[in-house]
This record gives sequence, structure tokens and C-alpha cells, in this order.
Amino acid sequence: MNYPHAMAFSDGSADFRSDTVTRPSEEMRRAMAAAEVGDDVYHDDPTVNALEEEAAAVVGKEASVFMPTGTMGNQIAVMLQTKPGDDVLADPGVHVRNVEAGGPAALSGVAFRTVDSTAGQVTPAQVEAAIAQAGFFPRIRLMIWENTHNLSGGRVVPSELMSETSATARRHGLAIHLDGARIFNAVVASGVAADIFAATADTVQFCFSKGLGAPVGSVLCGTQEMMGEARYLRKRMGGGMRQAGVIAAAARIALRDRDRLKEDHELAHYLAESLDRAHPGLVDLAQVETNMVQIQPERLPRPLPEWREALAAERIKINPAFGGILRLVTHRDVNRDDVDRLVRSLG
Ligand SMILES: Cc1ncc(COP(=O)(O)O)c(C=O)c1O
Repeated sequence: MNYPHAMAFSDGSADFRSDTVTRPSEEMRRAMAAAEVGDDVYHDDPTVNALEEEAAAVVGKEASVFMPTGTMGNQIAVMLQTKPGDDVLADPGVHVRNVEAGGPAALSGVAFRTVDSTAGQVTPAQVEAAIAQAGFFPRIRLMIWENTHNLSGGRVVPSELMSETSATARRHGLAIHLDGARIFNAVVASGVAADIFAATADTVQFCFSKGLGAPVGSVLCGTQEMMGEARYLRKRMGGGMRQAGVIAAAARIALRDRDRLKEDHELAHYLAESLDRAHPGLVDLAQVETNMVQIQPERLPRPLPEWREALAAERIKINPAFGGILRLVTHRDVNRDDVDRLVRSLG
């Protein structure tokens, strides 16, 4: 298949910080300009309505609500399925807990009960142990998955594990949310369909604005009834958008072309192998499952701040280390030439 919108930054710069830096393609921009719109708070924006139907169908849920951000989708999922004072069970590295500005505590009044899982892979035994430890107070009301798991370098949580662990959590009466900001990366990497992953959860959030390349937007998916309430909470949060068809038009294209994420994965493998060839032992090739490559800064042949400066001189952006790990992300706005330049600059 030919993907006409794959493109590097035309000014010669390159950005490996995140897949959120992708810009809308020409086709998206044309669709945005031509989008039929209405007032989405009245629920009569035809482009948003079409997107919501398509998005729900892809993950096998009854309905979905278009959200301005993944953060809002996740936070509304927490609000919907908890009461103040509840605990939320999750892997310690999940985005909802670490990078959403204290949302669960500030907005829903909940705390996290984390388990000692690796790369988001919470086991049934860990759920059982957490429940036993909690006793009667406080209540663990919700469990959250994240797939792919960002902080572990875009690793895929296997669907079989999700389904076994979710069955255990459900037996204990927990609701389940899947932060699937990058669920289609998991789908492309594993060959498991999105609705199989989504069936392990009651609500699923996924983003159009990351590797899928739309400028803005996410959806929260679940039952009709829950999504009715999610729409109400979205309004409360200030996320009731009006002629949102303008952005939904780009999101529809992103959703249609989701299989192109395999190109990003191929590029991540090319990046990891190039780094490994130039500096054996620098990267753990087995860790590269989707569009992220992790490096331990202490293994770099030169200090990270110095490398970042050299890269900046070549107009290549990378993040500083976070949690002791440097993460490089591939996406449709970087290409093999950019990777070659990045690897060469390491010395
Ligand atoms: C795993 C995960 N969940 C949720 C989000 C939040 O998305 P947004 O930036 O649209 O709020 C992100 C953003 O990077 C993410 O990586």
C-alpha cells in the first residue's frame, strides 16, 4: 500500500521526541477545510457523529465520545467509574497516574493502589494480592490498563494476559479502563484486533493525535449509557466543542489509515539496529516492539547533554532522559535519512 502522506519535515529538521509532533497531512488539511459541521454540543455535527460511530465500531463498543485530548478521555473514564475515596489499581508507570497533572486526585478524589508489575503487565495474582491487602477500606473500584505501555518504551501488553487479569478483576467487581492512547500500535505489532484488546475493558480511550497523525483529538468508548454520562462530564470539564467536525475530519482519515503505523515500527527497528551496529550493547533490541527505542544514558559513548547540543546544531530534537531513560520515538514525519543523521552525530 502506498501512504501518500508519509513525509519528513520539509525544512530539514527532525523531531524524535514523540509521535505527538506529527502534523496533519495535505489530505487531512483538505478534509478539514471541506468538513461538514454542526454544533457538537447539540450532537448535530455530522462529521463528529460519523467519527464517533466509526471509532466505536473499530473497538467493538456501542458508542464513543470525541474528546479534545487523551487526558480528558482518561480522566472522564476515572470519574465515570469511581467515587471519591476509592482506589484505582494500576501498574505504577501508567500515564494516568504519572503525567496527567494529578487529575485522578484533583478531579475524582481517588488514590492509586499500584502493583509491582513490569511494562504494564499486571497479573491475576497481583490483582488478587492487591485486593487482599486492601481489605474492606478503601475500596478498589477501577483497574486501568495502558497499551502500548509508554514508559516501558511502547511495549505491548499481551491480550491473553489482559483478558485473564481483567477476568480476575471483574470477579472482584472492578470496572476496567484501557488507556489505549496507542492501541493501534499494539494491534499492528501483535496482529491482535483492537476489539479483542478492548473487550478486556469497559471503557477505552484512544488518541488520533499521536502516531495516527491527526492534529487534535481522542475518543472515549463504552456503552451507550456510559457515553451519555461521559458527554455530560465532558461538558462539565469544558470539553464541549462546537463545530468540532473541522478536527474530526482529520481524525477520520487518521483512523482509516491506522495500519500505516507499521512503517513507524519498521523505522524504530532500523533506528535500534543502526545504533546497535554503531555502538554494540547500546540498545536492547528485544525491547523495541513498536515505535519507541529506549537508551540508558550512561551507555552512550558521549554525555547526553553534549549529544543533545550536537543534535540541536543539526536541528534534530530529542527529549532529555525521563526516569533515567532516554526515549527516541519514530513517526511519519521522520525518515531513514533523519535516523542516519542522528546515529552519525553520536560519534
Ligand atoms: C499512554 C498515554 N495516555 C494518555 C496520553 C494523553 O494524551 P493527550 O496528550 O492527548 O492528553 C498520552 C500522551 O502522550 C499517553 O502517552
